[in-house]
Amino acid sequence: MIHLETVSSHQQLTITPPVSGVSLQGRIRIPGDKSISHRALMLGAIAQGETIIEGLLLGEDPRSTAACFSAMGAKISELNETEVRVEGIGLGNLQEPDNVLDAGNSGTTMRLMLGLLASSPGKFFAVTGDHSLRSRPMSRVVNPLKEMGAQIWGKKGNTLAPLAIQGQQLKGIHYHSPIASAQVKSCVLLAGLLADSPTTVTEPALSRDHSERMLRAFGAHLTIDPESNSVTLEPRPTLIGQKVIVPGDISSAAFWLVAAAITPDSDLTIENVGINPTRTGILEALELMGADIALENVREVAGEPVADLRVKYSQLKGCTIGGAIIPRLIDEIPILAVAACFATGTTLIKDAEELRVKESDRLAVMATELTKMGAKVIEHPDGLEIAGGVTLQGAETDSYTDHRIAMSLAIAALNAQGATQIYRAEAASISYPTFVETLTGVCQAG
Ligand code: S3P
Repeated sequence: MIHLETVSSHQQLTITPPVSGVSLQGRIRIPGDKSISHRALMLGAIAQGETIIEGLLLGEDPRSTAACFSAMGAKISELNETEVRVEGIGLGNLQEPDNVLDAGNSGTTMRLMLGLLASSPGKFFAVTGDHSLRSRPMSRVVNPLKEMGAQIWGKKGNTLAPLAIQGQQLKGIHYHSPIASAQVKSCVLLAGLLADSPTTVTEPALSRDHSERMLRAFGAHLTIDPESNSVTLEPRPTLIGQKVIVPGDISSAAFWLVAAAITPDSDLTIENVGINPTRTGILEALELMGADIALENVREVAGEPVADLRVKYSQLKGCTIGGAIIPRLIDEIPILAVAACFATGTTLIKDAEELRVKESDRLAVMATELTKMGAKVIEHPDGLEIAGGVTLQGAETDSYTDHRIAMSLAIAALNAQGATQIYRAEAASISYPTFVETLTGVCQAG
């Protein structure tokens, strides 16, 4: 039913659901949170002393972060299957690397790291990434960094990687970000660590706050004003290595939440999922659609809220999603589009133009690939309109090398009639190296 093969040096995943259907049963664990994993590696690298990270995501994106910071002097080693040790070099001590820093496919690596590079006086850095990352906008971080006094050059008028950075003593600024982006906010805050005065970032809606939580845990002083979505960082803290426990990634859990919600007779529990309120938009959206999701064993682990999520099948209904919830479910919109195909009525996703500059243009790609499967999707400049209730048909699809597209199409394929091929399915290993294994383990023939 689930078959992986190599086609033209890529992996092709073929999913052929049995005519009697499948259901998803049991208890599963998902890999560590990608956003928290990047931050733990970076803060561990620039702190004094040892950081132990438990549950780090061992996907390709955090491996890019680890490789970049190893090249700048941090010692990062896998102690065992669950623990990674980072020997920090201390704030301001990044070494000039011998070669170009390669962020691979990872926007978080590149954008957050730029804040630390730009604020390293006297040192020169060159940064690049893969084909997708080299086409993603960097002006959103280059502009505020330049306002702080950074010297950065890049392709297309300093807007695209490869980028060259000559580190400088930066000044603190109050940056009013035009977009709600945790990558922008975190880049400016990290640059502010060595600035000459406090740095404030104000964003139009609250984006994920993992940087704020972890900077505090490592010893930085931050003031947060929830009324104005502003955060102020005092410069030159003493950052001390910590024990970080990374919860499961709700963005990875989302595939199973939707899979079980749309697949008859399913009853699945996903253990140890991070439920930071800046990330739980997917739970609210699915509940609005009538999903049956229970939060069990809610607890706090190392400064982040965590729960087990039990999800059972129920008939979903269409809904409208837009506004301030969007940054809280930005990475889950492709899988939400799949949920919408199985709901009654129409689902409208709006205010989500940011999806056009992710690892792929996720609005265009989801509209194209779901349409190939027979879905009724209208692509809008800022979102998608999906008329649910049409039975999907197996089709030849492509991930466009985007991990979240590959996994979203796999979940759609589980409930389609006939076989679906997903070309370039290896992209899943960016954030979820064991996705196909879990998919195989969790599905039971009806
Ligand atoms: C991330 C922030 C989000 C998200 C990305 C990870 C982060 O990007 O889409 O996958 O770890 O800060 P934006 O900040 O660009 O919205």
